[in-house]
Amino acid sequence: MTIPSIETVFNLSGKRVLVRCSFNVPLLGKDVVDDFRLKKILPTIQLLRDRGAKVLLMGHIGRDPVATLAPINDYLNKQFPVTFLKSFKGEETTSYLKTMRDGDVVLFENLRRDPREAANDSEFAKELASLADIYVNEAFTVSHREHASIVGVAKHVPSYAGIRFSEEVAALSKTLDPESPFVLVLGGAKFDTKWPLIQKFIDIADQIVIGGALANDIFVKQGFEVGTSLLSENPVDMDELLMTGKVHIPKDVVVRRGGQILTTTPDKVLQNDYIGDAGPETIKELAPIMSKAKTILWNGPLGNYEEKFKEGTLGLARIISESDAVSVVGGGDTLAAIQELDLHNGFTFISTGGGAMLQFLADETLPGIRALQDNHLT
Ligand code: 3PG
Repeated sequence: MTIPSIETVFNLSGKRVLVRCSFNVPLLGKDVVDDFRLKKILPTIQLLRDRGAKVLLMGHIGRDPVATLAPINDYLNKQFPVTFLKSFKGEETTSYLKTMRDGDVVLFENLRRDPREAANDSEFAKELASLADIYVNEAFTVSHREHASIVGVAKHVPSYAGIRFSEEVAALSKTLDPESPFVLVLGGAKFDTKWPLIQKFIDIADQIVIGGALANDIFVKQGFEVGTSLLSENPVDMDELLMTGKVHIPKDVVVRRGGQILTTTPDKVLQNDYIGDAGPETIKELAPIMSKAKTILWNGPLGNYEEKFKEGTLGLARIISESDAVSVVGGGDTLAAIQELDLHNGFTFISTGGGAMLQFLADETLPGIRALQDNHLT
């Protein structure tokens, strides 16, 4: 897949470069609690500054449209001087942009404060494009969204992928033609969002490991009680999947029963139990599968990580990191487990993407990729 890369553009001196960044990171108050995504955009910003560009950064954070990028401004200012501008237009912005010197960096406030961003409003896209000579997409994580800053701007100004964006596409593309045995591991909630990926890999994968709330859907299908456990909001018809004989679901589960946390088998879950995680026998069963694998693709936790049901996911992270397989992983809670155990070096590629990773693997492209490619056809 060919995507124009900003690394190929050397003459950036004096040019204004507008960069759509992956700023959507977890915060605790005003502090960034996980800067994985932010670290990955720094090489592109550095390259632009080194080549003499005036760098204009834009992005979003969280789902609350009034959320502020002030914590990102604080974080970036620890790396290099950044000027934080509240608006994309107006007198303050216009006059500041005129005074920018080569290598200077500006950060604009949360794009999603303007509803025209998510609506992919063409006037808003033109407004954004008018700020710049060149556009760079360094937000692979958001490139499944048809938003103005992802697809709209690229209609109006020469457009390129950032360094990390290109790395994401290259690494994820490798799993589309995997070396066998190939193990697909899917956890988390919402079968409907993971279903396209299962359909894509149902014939290609040698083993499919299902955990998290997705496994609860299968327990229900098998006639087991799941009590008050999470289920997908829009369950899918999984007969085709179960008939493959490739599927592994937890053989033991960790449940909350009254005030107690205990481990049991799926057929012994009671009416008021809450299944929070896969148990230790499940990890033991998966260990030889992971050690024999040549390719492992993993997205989503085995347990409800946010509710502190972590052991299954941590155990899985350990056995995958010990395997010699090419291992590609992604998704917020999956990354949290890798961070918690400091296992980064045990994985071949850790994607910054959650939904974008899933959609890229299912469709082999994204709206944000097509926008960059189309830009270079015109
Ligand atoms: C992500 O965090 O995975 C992306 O930034 C997408 O964010 P969104 O789901 O709010 O669009």
